[in-house]
Amino acid sequence: MKVTPWEVSGEIDYNKLIKEFGTEPINDKLLARIKKHTGELHPFLRRKIFFSHRDLNWILNEYEKGNKFFLYTGRSPSGQVHIGHLVPWMFTKWLQDKFNVDLWFQFPDEEKFLFKEDLTFEKVEKTLYDNMLDVIALGFNPKKTKFLIDTKDAGLMYKPACEVAKKITFSTVKAAFGFDNSFNIGQIFYTAMQTVPAILPSILAGKNIPCLIPHAIDQDPHFRISRDVLQKLGYYKPASIHSVFLPPLSGPGGKMSSSDASTAIYTTDDAKTVKNKVMKYAYSGGQPTVEEHRKKGGNPDIDVSYQWLTFFEENDKMLKSYYDDYKSGKLLTGELKQLLVDKLNKFLEKHQANREKAKDKVKEFYL
Ligand code: TYM
Repeated sequence: MKVTPWEVSGEIDYNKLIKEFGTEPINDKLLARIKKHTGELHPFLRRKIFFSHRDLNWILNEYEKGNKFFLYTGRSPSGQVHIGHLVPWMFTKWLQDKFNVDLWFQFPDEEKFLFKEDLTFEKVEKTLYDNMLDVIALGFNPKKTKFLIDTKDAGLMYKPACEVAKKITFSTVKAAFGFDNSFNIGQIFYTAMQTVPAILPSILAGKNIPCLIPHAIDQDPHFRISRDVLQKLGYYKPASIHSVFLPPLSGPGGKMSSSDASTAIYTTDDAKTVKNKVMKYAYSGGQPTVEEHRKKGGNPDIDVSYQWLTFFEENDKMLKSYYDDYKSGKLLTGELKQLLVDKLNKFLEKHQANREKAKDKVKEFYL
């Protein structure tokens, strides 16, 4: 398996990643502690979709002392948003509401420009606006949410980025991201820009404020570096909470990627496209024939439709009945796929309506 911010491949063993990255698993004790403040647990927590963290206990210690944290997450615009990207953002929105905290949302519009050979700034600019609509559509509170756009807000970000960059050697970046001498110097510098939002609110407020970063586990190598450097610069180490990846339709392993239209569902896909993609491409844990399936049952643990339902079906009882019925052979692959299609299309219908409304709101989120 390979998991870096720019490449995820192979069968992902999340327990192994916890060990390799040196993060901590989210255990029942921590879940109970979160629940004390939130009253309920988000399905992503109940189902261990958010499975790992750094320093979440410290964030809660500070919160309990009245020292509120801010949230920080982001999106690097390069193409269409797919439903996997929404996973950390939906959870971030829940955290914002439950803890009543500010969110800084970074759009590093130079990142993919630096990492993708044929990507121009013109293309990035277009997708930036489009991607913002997806974020706003999730319902973030504009009074408590600020968008940080690297090329637009460079004046504010560049100095702290240089402070950070000065403390990171080329060999650290090579080891963290697997870079070699052929990488361009923009790529080498970039991690400094992704560190800045973790301290910008502290710089602007003139005092240290705890920071919690929700993201999928691929971004952790950046924040491993941030934590080391920021401490040296006299700031708090940012805490983080990590999700697994929504697998590609062709699953069961890996991460959904924007560049493969057949294995990703985009937020703008219409109902017919969603149905076609799921019916045609969703990796099945079912048996080759109906007779065999009825007799032996399917395997929900590798079936992508079931995996996706664990992200999108909020009702635990329904989810369990799908699991049991698929395993016993009562529910056929085509039926399970249809359940997923209905769920996704309901979700996307609402999201797409909110996306339209978001067009009037973009400016409210600018710094
Ligand atoms: P980006 O734009 O590639 O992805 C945005 C967010 O989506 C997560 N993600 C996924 N989550 C679940 N399932 C998937 N299949 C999946 N694919 C992507 C990513 O982990 C990310 O949280 N460099 C970042 C942008 C960024 C950022 C941040 C992200 C800047 N600052 C702070 C998180 C936190 C990027 O390229 O993400």
